[in-house]
Amino acid sequence: MELRRIAEDDLSQVFGLISQAFMRGGKDDGWIRDPATQAMHAYGVFEGATLKAQAAIAPYQCHMGGDLVMKMGGIAGVACHPTARGKGYAGMCMRRALEGMRDEGQTISTLFPFSWAYYRRLGWAWVGEKRRYGVPTSAMQSCPETRDVRPADEADHAAVRDLYTRFSAGYRGLIARDEAQWKQMLDHAEKEFTYTYLYPAAGPLEGYLTYRGGSRDNTHLREFICQTPAAKRALLGLLRRHDMQVSRFEWDAPADDDLRCHLCHWDVETRTTPCTQGRIVDVAGALRAWGASRGTEAAFVVRVADASAPWNEMTWAVTAGSGEATVAPSASEPGLEIEIGELSQCLYGAPTVCQLRRAGLITVHDEAQFEAMERFFAGPTMWTNDSF
Ligand SMILES: CC(C)(COP(=O)(O)OP(=O)(O)OC[C@H]1O[C@@H](n2cnc3c(N)ncnc32)[C@H](O)[C@@H]1OP(=O)(O)O)[C@@H](O)C(=O)NCCC(=O)NCCS
Repeated sequence: MELRRIAEDDLSQVFGLISQAFMRGGKDDGWIRDPATQAMHAYGVFEGATLKAQAAIAPYQCHMGGDLVMKMGGIAGVACHPTARGKGYAGMCMRRALEGMRDEGQTISTLFPFSWAYYRRLGWAWVGEKRRYGVPTSAMQSCPETRDVRPADEADHAAVRDLYTRFSAGYRGLIARDEAQWKQMLDHAEKEFTYTYLYPAAGPLEGYLTYRGGSRDNTHLREFICQTPAAKRALLGLLRRHDMQVSRFEWDAPADDDLRCHLCHWDVETRTTPCTQGRIVDVAGALRAWGASRGTEAAFVVRVADASAPWNEMTWAVTAGSGEATVAPSASEPGLEIEIGELSQCLYGAPTVCQLRRAGLITVHDEAQFEAMERFFAGPTMWTNDSF
């Protein structure tokens, strides 16, 4: 058995494994040539020359509140051949992927799990709460501002991206999308137009929504983001004007979204789920970047347990203030003890440090250090509106 980075020559084997695991044997191999796939790198377990399991890393940039953008490894394509399952092969690929991400400077990682429990054992923990609204079109109201909504054209895409970037500074977890991701979202598809609407019609952009496809019974908005109440009212009113074509719209929003302040109705459905699973790959790198970006005064010593990434498993002294942070191994007695999954949740801000303590997931030996840790991780909540 050999665990190694997957090379160009292995791609036909990767295709076979992915087809079996995710495509029910489908032979469409277009995704291999997709630039997003080609930007990934992967690790595989081989028995002789035969690939048995793999895990891939997609390179992303992730907004983490304010101006902070961190390199993030998105885990994808985790698969093991049915005849090799249960031998720990996928777990080995995941642990090797952690080393790979650390070496690339990807201090954090997220993934969209088939099972929360499977990745939890490897240190990824649920982060963020996502709301999915389902709103009957007839429950919405048009309003005077709706007259000031207009369709976007290609020349508006830069303003949409700029609004998204400003909005992203208020959350931890939104992807800093590249050109290809924006094109995928805003351009017309081969067989369908994409509809993007903006408010206001002239002047600085305050809100947009965008969708493609959908049905009369339910149409999913790919994104609906507003930075002013007027934009929210205006765009809800625009949706209301689809009443004869679409009876229900659904879209995703962060946990602190204020839809109910604009529209309170018994028939509005809200489904809440965790956003994703997140993990700190490199404790020192991630906490240093976070602490320096916040400027909060704090000092604490924390013992971190991380069975899958031994470089994190030690006692760390964390000191932050005036735009600087140091995170260094320490021989002092720790004031706090935590596992990597919960520390990752602290970094993403949801669940909060206090919620984790109430759930018995942080061991506190020193109250003052707990308060310092709470101050250190205070910041915007977590949300992401992309998946992979
Ligand atoms: C999921 C998958 C990658 C696991 O591969 P594997 O090599 O068997 O995994 P490992 O050997 O590293 O881990 C197996 C362990 O995970 C556990 N496990 C398997 N499925 C699980 C689940 N749904 N929830 C919790 N644990 C699970 C097994 O019980 C086993 O634990 P044990 O060693 O204590 O018995 C493999 O089953 C697969 O390819 N599935 C199809 C593709 C897929 O769904 N991939 C995940 C995409 S997010």
